[in-house]
Amino acid sequence: MDSNKEKYYNVTKNSSPHLNVINFLNLNVPPQKAIDLGCGTGRDTIELLKNNWNVLSIDREDTESIIKHQLTNKELKNFRFKKCLFGKMKLPKVNLIVANFSLPFSKKEFFSNIWENITNSILHERVFCWKFFWKKRYMG
Ligand SMILES: C[S@@+](CC[C@H](N)C(=O)[O-])C[C@H]1O[C@@H](n2cnc3c(N)ncnc32)[C@H](O)[C@@H]1O
Repeated sequence: MDSNKEKYYNVTKNSSPHLNVINFLNLNVPPQKAIDLGCGTGRDTIELLKNNWNVLSIDREDTESIIKHQLTNKELKNFRFKKCLFGKMKLPKVNLIVANFSLPFSKKEFFSNIWENITNSILHERVFCWKFFWKKRYMG
């Protein structure tokens, strides 16, 4: 793991979940199955598990033990981790896909496959939450 990533993981290990996940959970949708694509240290995964969702977390780095460390026995039963690249896995059918700050890291040539994989994975009654990056512009 490169040192920048390690620094990022140290900073985000105890971070709050992203607002899109908090807002989603506030809708009180009955907990079902979710995927967290590029879960990192699991800020969103953990929040979903604490709200009784069943979560498959995917990352190319082995962050499983960092996440497991923060879970209760009950939450562990609802948690699965897969270390792999987005483009290398056929995603199971789920009701929610979270991909915060992760998809922009995929290579351009793989993006359409990954997108197809995502759209095939989400069931009829579904939600997709994602966050890309943006440039701040200052008006002077
Ligand atoms: C900036 S971090 C975001 C982590 C987490 N979602 C968050 O918001 O804190 C991006 C994560 O995506 C993972 N990642 C990037 N490209 C990937 C790929 N092609 N396949 C699987 N994981 C990938 C990285 O290893 C990293 O953990």
